[in-house]
Amino acid sequence: MAATAQATDIPTEAQQCVTCHGDKGQGTAQGPMIGGMSEQYLDAQIENFIAGRRNNTLMTLMAQSLVDLPARKVALSYFAAQGSPLKGQLRGDKIALSGAEKLYYQGDLKRGLPACYSCHGPSAAGGGSFPRLAGQQADYLAEQLIAWRKLERSGDHDNTMGHIAAKLKEDEIKSLATYLSAIQ
Ligand code: HEC
Ligand code: HEC
Repeated sequence: MAATAQATDIPTEAQQCVTCHGDKGQGTAQGPMIGGMSEQYLDAQIENFIAGRRNNTLMTLMAQSLVDLPARKVALSYFAAQGSPLKGQLRGDKIALSGAEKLYYQGDLKRGLPACYSCHGPSAAGGGSFPRLAGQQADYLAEQLIAWRKLERSGDHDNTMGHIAAKLKEDEIKSLATYLSAIQ
C-alpha cells in the first residue's frame, strides 16, 4: 500500500526521480506531483520531453535517461501506483459554484469552452490519457496552461488543450489552478 511505502520499496529505477518528485510522487519545490497519474499519461509525457514537445532543461535530461523502456516502465508504474485517494465530491451539494468550479463542471458554451470535467473527470481525478489535476501544484497547473497558450507545450491529441488554454483568460487560469490544487 502506498501509505506504508518505505524508502526500500522504491525501485532503483524510480529513485533518481524522488529528489524532485518526492518519494510517493507527491511533488516537491523542484518538481510537480506525478503520483497517482496513469502510466499511460506519464509515459506520453516522457515521450513529449524527448521529442521536444515540452521543454524543461532538467526534466528533458531525465527523460532522455529513460530511453530504456523496461526501466522506464518500472519507474512509471511505481509512481502510477502512488497518489493520495480522493474524497470525491458530491455535485449539487452547493448552491453557488465558484467561478472556477463552474468552468470546471459546466464550461462556457458561449465561448465554446468545454467543461474540464468532461475529460478530467469528477473531482479532477483524471485517468487514462487525462492527467489528474486534483492536488497538483497551483503554479505548475497555471504554467502548463500558459505554456500551451505560448505554443511551448504540444503533444496533446488534436491540440485539444492548446485550443482550450487559448480561450481562458489570465484570471481564469489563476482561479482554476487554485481551485484544482485545493481538491483533496
Ligand atoms: C531535477 C529535477 C527532476 C528530476 C530528477 C526528475 N524530474 Fe520529472 N519533472 C521535473 C520538473 C521541473 C517537471 C515539470 C516540467 C515542466 O514544467 O514542464 C517534471 C515533469 C515530469 C513529468 C510530467 C508531469 C505531468 O504532470 O505532466 C513526468 C511524467 C516526470 N517529470 C517524470 C519523471 C521521472 C519518471 C523521473 C525519474 C526518472 C523524473 N521525472 C525526474 C523535474 C525533475
Ligand atoms: C476534451 C478533453 C479535455 C478537456 C475538455 C480539458 N482537458 Fe485538460 N487535458 C486533456 C488531455 C488529453 C491532457 C493531456 C495532454 C497531453 O498528453 O499532453 C490534458 C492536460 C491538462 C493539463 C496539464 C496537466 C499536467 O499534469 O501537466 C492541465 C493543467 C489541464 N489539462 C487543465 C484543463 C482545464 C483547466 C480544463 C477546462 C478549462 C481542461 N483541462 C479541459 C484533455 C482535456
